[in-house]
Amino acid sequence: MAHFKVEHLSIAFGGIKAVNDVSFEVEHNKIFSIIGPNGSGKTTIFNMISGIYKPNAGEVLLEDENLVGLRPDTIARRGVARTFQNIQLFGNATVMDNLMLGRHIHMKTGILSGAFMWGRHSASAKEEIRHREIIEHIVDFLDLQSLRDQFVSNLPYGKRKLVELGRALALEPKVLLLDEPSAGMNTEEKDDLRIWIKDIQEDYQVTILLIEHDMNMVMGISDRILAINQGVKIIEGVPADVQKHPDVIAAYLGEED
Ligand SMILES: Nc1ncnc2c1ncn2[C@@H]1O[C@H](COP(=O)(O)OP(=O)(O)O)[C@@H](O)[C@H]1O
Ligand SMILES: [Mg+2]
Repeated sequence: MAHFKVEHLSIAFGGIKAVNDVSFEVEHNKIFSIIGPNGSGKTTIFNMISGIYKPNAGEVLLEDENLVGLRPDTIARRGVARTFQNIQLFGNATVMDNLMLGRHIHMKTGILSGAFMWGRHSASAKEEIRHREIIEHIVDFLDLQSLRDQFVSNLPYGKRKLVELGRALALEPKVLLLDEPSAGMNTEEKDDLRIWIKDIQEDYQVTILLIEHDMNMVMGISDRILAINQGVKIIEGVPADVQKHPDVIAAYLGEED
């Protein structure tokens, strides 16, 4: 049994097949990257996995359970967390509040009481302590200690990306979907991110699906890579094999960035 599996996934928008019969398997605790030119369907695959789009055909299997048709919050509760190509955080809330929002799905109290009035409502003391421990671990882990009470809208872009990563981790996911996490980062931030992703793999024992344009990062970090073009799988394999595939080379040479 593969830990995570996508089978014959397809979706069309206005008659255009954005993703066409894509299948792949990811073993537990591996880093699996999806590459392809802009518009090739990468984010759309994530949107189908996380329940934002319902595929026209195909299955998404987490530990053999089909996630297709479930609501995004149910899919998140099953253990699939994600970050977005364009950051989606609450700018007018602090780093800590944004991280707590990532945990609300595990809280018995509602989202507002959970995020903004921690502890005052009915969560048991024990539960409360556990939520805090998980968040504090993430704050230490991502080196966000000095920023904990800052409003997210005041943070530089690279830090906001990290907060978004932290919020996804707060869910304690089984599968973590990262959509172009290094986009907009400088070289130093990218180097850090690469180390963090490896550390997440080790510390959190999570399966990571990564959409990434930086080929150095992709080739260096991935256990396996899926290359797609115009919604269709070109090749799936270990980095060395994917890198030398003529269609992959062609697809990348044909692209500006
Ligand atoms: N909600 C939507 N409505 C119409 N077309 C969409 C929608 N979402 C994605 N697409 C189209 O699907 C294709 C793949 O997009 P996307 O998955 O965002 O590409 P990538 O992430 O690889 O750059 C594009 O042609 C895009 O315009
Ligand atoms: Mg995209």
